[in-house]
Amino acid sequence: MKPSKMRLFARNAAVATLMFALATEPCWAWGRDGHRITALVAESYLTPSTKAAIAELLHGQRISDIASWADDIRSSQPETGPWHYIDIPRSEPKFDRNRDCPVNAKDPKSPWRDCVTDRILYFEGRLGDESLPADQRAEALKFLVHFLGDIHQPLHAIGDDRGGNGIRVSFLGSTQCGNYRCNLHGVWDESILEHRGLSDEKYRDLLLKEIKENNWEQMSGGSPVAWAEVSHHYAVNAYAPNGALIDHAYLEEETKVVDAELALGGLRLARVLNRILGSPDQADPTRPAANAPSANPAPETTTAPKQ
Ligand code: ADE
Ligand code: ZN
Ligand code: ZN
Repeated sequence: MKPSKMRLFARNAAVATLMFALATEPCWAWGRDGHRITALVAESYLTPSTKAAIAELLHGQRISDIASWADDIRSSQPETGPWHYIDIPRSEPKFDRNRDCPVNAKDPKSPWRDCVTDRILYFEGRLGDESLPADQRAEALKFLVHFLGDIHQPLHAIGDDRGGNGIRVSFLGSTQCGNYRCNLHGVWDESILEHRGLSDEKYRDLLLKEIKENNWEQMSGGSPVAWAEVSHHYAVNAYAPNGALIDHAYLEEETKVVDAELALGGLRLARVLNRILGSPDQADPTRPAANAPSANPAPETTTAPKQ
């Protein structure tokens, strides 16, 4: 290539890279970091039989490798978009399925609606259905891993301003958050996590320690609706108006919520996967010793961790 052509080529490549970076802004879920950390916590609680079933379905990949797959296919399968969240209004403390979970537009008679609580139950059923082809069960596993993460992102459980996507904020004095203009939702998907500045291993180990110290295993049960209502409660508390300044005090308080939700998301994901894929004779480590299988199992708890 002639030098002049080389320069033109290099400039076009730079412009294309910049356009790509700007176009990749939207964040729909915990960013990739949040989903990966949730899956890494879960991996620490999987039984050997669950791990083997996952390895077979994913052809050797780990759940931490595929945790963001559902975001990657979202633009080519836009009908899956509403499966990532649940729009409980800020003014309401509780989930109401008729109000907050729309019926499927293509198939209004379907028993499964288009919000994250319904889709977790739907994909639990498909993952456990051994009459389905392996690729469909693998797809169900990939959706489940992702949605157990999303339901623990508080802003995925509040409907106002599209989960805070429409709330412009500044983050520690800047209105630009990496590739995107700071908004409340993105701060929760990505910026708070990034600000923690921990490697995957350090973050996972810190969360495993917090789980042990706080006995969070006792909260590994519960239902998707109960998890979403706790997320919603955190979101109402974390909500901020347009133009709000996300400062060190906000970060200090909300980082505790982020940590608890990542840890609980991981624990609950492991419990769901052990129940569906694991062999019943292997003790589930997400259940604290006192709750080990007994004639009279302890009730599933759903309280939010004390802050
Ligand atoms: N779009 C509309 N509501 C949303 C929410 N709560 N989270 C993410 N995306 C949304
Ligand atoms: Zn998502
Ligand atoms: Zn999001």
